[in-house]
Amino acid sequence: MKPNELKYPHLFKERRPLIAGRVFFVPDYYFEHHLFSFPALEDERLFGNSNPVFVEYCSGNGSWIVEKAKACRDKNWIAVERDFERARKIVSKTVNGKLANLFVVCGEALTFTRHYLRDQSIEGIFVNFPDPWPKERHAKHRLFQSEFAKETARVVSFQKGAVVATDDPAYAENISSVMLGSLLWESAIPFPYYRTEWQEYGTSFFQALWEKKGRTIRYFSFLRR
Ligand SMILES: C[S@@+](CC[C@H](N)C(=O)[O-])C[C@H]1O[C@@H](n2cnc3c(N)ncnc32)[C@H](O)[C@@H]1O
Repeated sequence: MKPNELKYPHLFKERRPLIAGRVFFVPDYYFEHHLFSFPALEDERLFGNSNPVFVEYCSGNGSWIVEKAKACRDKNWIAVERDFERARKIVSKTVNGKLANLFVVCGEALTFTRHYLRDQSIEGIFVNFPDPWPKERHAKHRLFQSEFAKETARVVSFQKGAVVATDDPAYAENISSVMLGSLLWESAIPFPYYRTEWQEYGTSFFQALWEKKGRTIRYFSFLRR
């Protein structure tokens, strides 16, 4: 399957949550999420088993999560990516790789988490290179805000984790202050709460790009308190 074979399933004016194949479409500017009954993760429409489920937010072209899904078939993976052009690249990799343990959500991270994930249903979350939105007037677009810390803490099982990677030093501070400041997460890494090497972590498109440019990558690892 080529990415452009997947078409967006409805016109903007007809937007609604919809599962089509291995994708869950969560439209922007939609306010009636309560009308859609999202199946349990064990349901045949998602994974059809009760293996642990891991979520990667902001998956981009999916290179990191596709590798994880191929390497760890006894775990289930959900890629959450807002941008349809990128989401369909992940779908194409999922279909071509016959990855029954990878499901794609084309939608916004907080919206999907808040409305569709059940309490303590997730074994761990990952966020690789979330957009830092460095200008103060764009700060409202940053993913790491108190609501995101709170909603992810609700869905992740106790003592399970959240890993975040960033190349942006200012956003790194922001991420740790939001997560630790929520009092719902604690750091698995002593002060300064990140590491800069993680050999076995895997590689995303942006990670490879920033490493090539010589940027320091900061990896945070938080545990649900
Ligand atoms: C810098 S890219 C990183 C992509 C990938 N994780 C990587 O490391 O190569 C950030 C991605 O996050 C997506 N994104 C930004 N905000 C989002 C949100 N609130 N919910 C879901 N995806 C989001 C963007 O569309 C973009 O694909």
